[in-house]
Amino acid sequence: MIYTKTEEQIGYMKEAALLVSKTLTEVAKMLKPGVSTLDIDKLCMEYAKDHKGTLSFYNYHGYPHNICASVNDVVVHGFPNKSPLKDGDIVSIDFGVILNGWHGDHAYTFILGEADPAAIELVKVTKASLYKGIEKAIVNNRVGDIGFAIQEYTERHGYGVVRELVGHGLGTSLHEDPQVPNYGKRGTGLKMKENLVLAIEPMINMGTHKVFTDDDGWTVKTQDGKVSVHFEHDVCVKAGKALILSDFSIIEAAEKANINLNTSYY
Ligand code: MF3
Ligand code: CO
Repeated sequence: MIYTKTEEQIGYMKEAALLVSKTLTEVAKMLKPGVSTLDIDKLCMEYAKDHKGTLSFYNYHGYPHNICASVNDVVVHGFPNKSPLKDGDIVSIDFGVILNGWHGDHAYTFILGEADPAAIELVKVTKASLYKGIEKAIVNNRVGDIGFAIQEYTERHGYGVVRELVGHGLGTSLHEDPQVPNYGKRGTGLKMKENLVLAIEPMINMGTHKVFTDDDGWTVKTQDGKVSVHFEHDVCVKAGKALILSDFSIIEAAEKANINLNTSYY
């Protein structure tokens, strides 16, 4: 079932998406070597609760934490843990809340300190690929146009596009139709209508696109052990130009102000 939203509902969804953006901004402020991903989980949980948000990942199909913290070769769905983050780590934080019954779900990848220049480039290209996809999220385009744009841009850089996990519709459920692959053929898939809300989330690997799931049943890792990057925006389909509901600008400002984070690619 494909649900398009009313303007009023889009307003609620923007508030939910923004609460996630504000939470990730708090993460951008506190990140430094020595902090653990469990510390980040706690901060996100408390910040969301303080702002009337309900945690949406906890217990989702049995998921045992509030955030997904995917470091280096972890693609997505990494469990937060106690080990201290270190200089050079590539850290994706994916977080979701429910506010007034509507879901916000988005993700951002941070670079700690001195990192491998090739990994920094992967972060830059993956973020840019998200916007390439968003450019295609307009009325009368097809969902395949989004995946095609992301795949074409990232494969041109020699990267691998994860196939097993995809973006999705978003609304009163965390995962609604349609699925939004980060690969595909132009002109195929669902024709998009105004006020369809999508979570677009490229997961891009430095090397092979192939992944596997750890023994914990959740943690998705690259098969070659190389780094993977994940960015996610909540996007409302409009005529001419998509409306992005989440907001990276506040996260980026905090990231640039944090001397422990590497923003050399800007
Ligand atoms: N942003 C992730 C996704 O859309 C959220 C995963 S929720 C989890 O797949 F609880 F399964 F981790
Ligand atoms: Co998502």
